[in-house]
Amino acid sequence: MTDGTVALASDHAGYDLKEALRAAIEARGLEALDLGAHGHGRVDYPDFARAMADALADGRAARGVLVCGTGIGISIAANRFRHVRSALCHDVTTARLARGHNDANVLALGARTTGVGVALDCLDAFLDTPFAGGRHAARVEKLG
Ligand code: RB5
Repeated sequence: MTDGTVALASDHAGYDLKEALRAAIEARGLEALDLGAHGHGRVDYPDFARAMADALADGRAARGVLVCGTGIGISIAANRFRHVRSALCHDVTTARLARGHNDANVLALGARTTGVGVALDCLDAFLDTPFAGGRHAARVEKLG
């Protein structure tokens, strides 16, 4: 059962925010699958986007959260995998609509651009909002 598991991955720039997100996920009674990074040592964000794509592909988690400095690089890298729909969000509205309209399975956040409080609110919106389906379903289907 992967619905109760949220995968998490970051580069070094996103490490501290990832740790805060992990605590919030666990406080909700969910399991956090931590794919690294495991410290502040410099790493390359595409490697962690790939780790997320692999975890979603093999069913270890059905959804995940990615963090890098801006959220841009790691989100671009994740979206190169067809089964990943990563949405870079900066506020609750984008996080809510990323789920409702885009059926995003990955929330991407920027640790250098988004404060911890807003990031945690984005996490809540991402985890609590169902896909609206309807007219959005055909559009998501066209993403391939
Ligand atoms: C790392 O310095 C930084 O480039 C990375 O975290 C991210 O912001 C890239 O998009």
